[in-house]
Amino acid sequence: MREAAKTFRLGILISGRGSNMVALADAVRAGLIPNAKIAVVISDQPTAAGLEKAKERGIETVVIERRGRTREEHDRDIVENLRKREIDLVCLAGYMRILSREFLGPYRGRILNIHPSLLPAFPGLNPQKQALDQGVTEAGCTVHFVDETLDGGPIVLQRAVPIFEGDTIEALSERILEQEHHTYPEAVTLVLDQLPAR
Ligand code: GRF
Repeated sequence: MREAAKTFRLGILISGRGSNMVALADAVRAGLIPNAKIAVVISDQPTAAGLEKAKERGIETVVIERRGRTREEHDRDIVENLRKREIDLVCLAGYMRILSREFLGPYRGRILNIHPSLLPAFPGLNPQKQALDQGVTEAGCTVHFVDETLDGGPIVLQRAVPIFEGDTIEALSERILEQEHHTYPEAVTLVLDQLPAR
């Protein structure tokens, strides 16, 4: 008899709005990310709007504030929470902190991030503004593995969007975000398909 397919347990880290977290949760519910469950949403910000959206979807939420601790202590707390829940893959979704080795060590190759630019172009803050300032004709989004570098880990999937004459940061960000919501679930599906057993 064939073994039942393993259910991969996802942990999503947010700091704010949480629209990519919602896109992932809705994709899991719709069966677009097979054999997956969102086991926990962790926020470093108690007021993150995404927390309510996760709760509405019946997903466990945890707030882990930094509260004067070092980055390492904060990351150790997060890792402990992920371990307790046997998380297979961590998805950063608007999580506004750089990860320390305490986090990268145990989850290397198992942490994804989404960034609103066509990496390696425009890493870091305000990539949509960077793209407009440079006068490029295409922007987009990238899902990549997280490593020590700033938005520099191996790329899983990208999607381009056009930049129009007279584009504003708001209009461009909106156009990119719409693509992010399709690209992240697709990228997670690709990664889970190749993820080695623990
Ligand atoms: C997205 O644009 C994502 O690419 C970037 O931060 C933003 C988060 O938005 N890393 P949301 O919280 O998922 O709505």
